[in-house]
Amino acid sequence: MSTKTSPDLQVLFSREQIAERVAELGRQIDQDYAGENIVLLGVLKGAAIFLADLARHITVPNTFDFVAVSSYGKGQKTSGAVKLIKDVDQPIEGKNVIVVEDILDTGLTLDFLKKLFAQHRPRSLRIAALLDKPSRRLVKIDADYVGFSIPNKFVVGYGMDYAERFRNLPDICLMPPDYPE
Ligand code: PRP
Repeated sequence: MSTKTSPDLQVLFSREQIAERVAELGRQIDQDYAGENIVLLGVLKGAAIFLADLARHITVPNTFDFVAVSSYGKGQKTSGAVKLIKDVDQPIEGKNVIVVEDILDTGLTLDFLKKLFAQHRPRSLRIAALLDKPSRRLVKIDADYVGFSIPNKFVVGYGMDYAERFRNLPDICLMPPDYPE
């Protein structure tokens, strides 16, 4: 059976490239947190697939939790205000937390979450972002673990969507600006 599940979109990172990089990130996290426990805190929905794969390359004891934030209308550029719509299920006070994101873009979402979670007094707080688009940044924030740095292109697949579609694509693909909704 063919493994081609993408529509005719240009592949930016293949499933093989992603798998290799995610495994490297897992190994790095393992080294950095040797002897510790960690909480992998995914930001719904885009990070779900990255978290699932990353976690399977981490051998230090870990748990999962998820938060959801309201989208602030990327297309239309609204206020930029981010709102928490689903909080953590378990307290993170005193825990080693790694916030797991599919993409760090303007930085508004992670800046908001980092400040919010810091108030919970975790033992440590780091960010793992599969993709980083530094040219789009509106606030100064960096991820501690980055899969790939990319130019300002709209990408889909491996959790990332266009109007909620294409999250299931195994490759990360470029979405042409004129793609019909
Ligand atoms: C995406 C991504 C991050 C955020 C990053 O989420 O998952 O949460 O945008 O962008 P920023 O750095 O400009 O804040 P999106 O709002 O598309 O929701 P989704 O994860 O449900 O797709």
